[in-house]
Amino acid sequence: MQLRVTSLPGDGIGPEVTSQAICVLEEVASGFGHDLELDEKEIGGVALAKYGNPLPDATIQACLASHAVLLGAVGSPAFDQNPRERRPEAGLLRLRQELGAFANLRPAVYYPALAACSPLREEIVKGTDILIVRELLGGLYFGQPRSIEGNRGERHALNTMRYSEAEIDRIARVAFQLALTRRRRLLSVDKSNVLECSRLWREVVTSVACDFPGVDLSHMYVDSAAMSLALKPTDFDVILTENMFGDILSDQAGGVVGSLGLLASASLGGAVGLYEPVHGSAPDIAGRGIANPLGAILSVALMLRHTFNLPKEAECVEAGVTSTLMGGFRTRDLTRNGERAVTTEEMGGQIAEFVRLAAGTSGQGAS
Ligand code: IPM
Ligand code: MG
Repeated sequence: MQLRVTSLPGDGIGPEVTSQAICVLEEVASGFGHDLELDEKEIGGVALAKYGNPLPDATIQACLASHAVLLGAVGSPAFDQNPRERRPEAGLLRLRQELGAFANLRPAVYYPALAACSPLREEIVKGTDILIVRELLGGLYFGQPRSIEGNRGERHALNTMRYSEAEIDRIARVAFQLALTRRRRLLSVDKSNVLECSRLWREVVTSVACDFPGVDLSHMYVDSAAMSLALKPTDFDVILTENMFGDILSDQAGGVVGSLGLLASASLGGAVGLYEPVHGSAPDIAGRGIANPLGAILSVALMLRHTFNLPKEAECVEAGVTSTLMGGFRTRDLTRNGERAVTTEEMGGQIAEFVRLAAGTSGQGAS
């Protein structure tokens, strides 16, 4: 199969983790007999510095011409004072829009090998397997009007939260479909006791549920959901929520399972899927070779499953991650008192090696 992928390493630790994810993807391609075509482009702060634009046209064109996009991270303190349109984050938000990626899937899974990493007791966190389905193209992130106006000392700022029935309906259907492939429990998270957007959200999600009688739907306010996520993470299966709530709850879910560095994501909806680790650019540790590449590597697994429909290859990458963690390999974010930390490259190398051996023994490597 032909795998046409655009990679956008971006800022901070983005290039380090992306290069490991690509090594794993290359190993999958050669081991399972696929033809990988890679194209690398700029986004975020590196694109701003080079072209004065966080999402140059050449990047959009390359992404639209490929089957899938693998992104590292965007964000750099160098541009903190820039107006919104000339910040690195604006490049990512526009890319999501250009790709029509309204459905953001963020799995948070507990690894028994990492029991000691979670701040929660093992008996609480053990068995956690959550899929957050975050609406990615609406709400406060994109609502118009938005502004900061007035003179210093008297300024006011405005953001708009806006959702249409159609926007809620389409993301709800994605979440219900995914719930059918899992434990069939869907929790919709909103703030319908206060926000009109949330009232409409709850109403539309409830009506979509009629088309999915096999899924058990419940609702929770976001404040209460945040507490439950910390107290009883195993109660959750699929969480469906709007853009901003999903941004917040997914970082929290990363904390629950032990490190945000473990979390991968898939952003779907258009013809080209966008895959990126949930963590940011982490400028404080960039360039030191200590970042955790697992979020990026697991994003490759999501790409294999969702864009290329190659579940065996996806499972092989995931098995590589599990096996590497069981083997005791830990990047710095995962180490506990006195444990030795491996580098980004050593961690990635372990998984690439696992894939190489597994693909070889599965007899698919001959082609
Ligand atoms: C994420 C990030 C982004 C977001 C930023 C970098 C724009 O926090 O993917 O969760 O807020 O969506
Ligand atoms: Mg975030």
